[in-house]
Amino acid sequence: MHSFARHRTSRASKASAKETKGLILKGGWRYDLMEWFIDTFMFRGQVRELRQRTATLARMQPGEAVLDVGCGTGTLAMEVARRVGRAGRVAGVDPGTEQIARARAKAARRDVPIEFQIGVIEQLPFPDQTFDVVLSTLMMHHLPAPLKRQGLAEIARVLKPGGRLVIADFKRKQERAGQAARFHAGGSSMQELAALVKEAGFEHPEIEEMRLLRFSAFPGAGFVRAHKS
Ligand SMILES: C[S@@+](CC[C@H](N)C(=O)[O-])C[C@H]1O[C@@H](n2cnc3c(N)ncnc32)[C@H](O)[C@@H]1O
Repeated sequence: MHSFARHRTSRASKASAKETKGLILKGGWRYDLMEWFIDTFMFRGQVRELRQRTATLARMQPGEAVLDVGCGTGTLAMEVARRVGRAGRVAGVDPGTEQIARARAKAARRDVPIEFQIGVIEQLPFPDQTFDVVLSTLMMHHLPAPLKRQGLAEIARVLKPGGRLVIADFKRKQERAGQAARFHAGGSSMQELAALVKEAGFEHPEIEEMRLLRFSAFPGAGFVRAHKS
């Protein structure tokens, strides 16, 4: 999927997207199409399953305020909006201008009120204690370690006391088994992620792993769930 990547913002997007050391993706609808193809024919639907499980692990309630950091083209945010209902609030940030344009178009087409903004995890454009839940899927491996720390501190800032955080990410290559070890170079160590989450002031980080399916090239993924004290 990273043929859709660029390391810095393009000239066209410089005015609105901030510079980041994260790996920004682009492509909009082309990204969605490629992801659908890879997920359906190579990953046996495990990316879809990962997003559903992320939303389920967050135990969202109708009326809650939820932020998706590194929301890409907004697929998870759409599912979140369904779960929190019209009384809830859903926001998504991503530095990829084409991804945000695509996310906005999808939400508008389905008449779902989601606030998609160009933004970065290291400087979230929200006041302190805004959200009940913050989610992030397949994004952490796009960030160098210092940025992960900075981003987690920002997430802690925008979460309400007792707010929940769920991070899903590909596992680090060395931690994968079988066929999966050959795919997708990036990835995070779930133990290291959990340690960073704790360092950022979250309580009782728990790790879960996705089961490996036979005949799937899915690179293996895990979840870190924690709450702010
Ligand atoms: C593999 S995509 C995952 C997108 C989406 N969460 C999903 O599950 O489809 C990773 C996303 O992280 C975004 N990203 C990169 N650097 C970032 C940063 N500093 N802050 C927030 N998002 C970032 C990329 O632009 C990209 O859209």
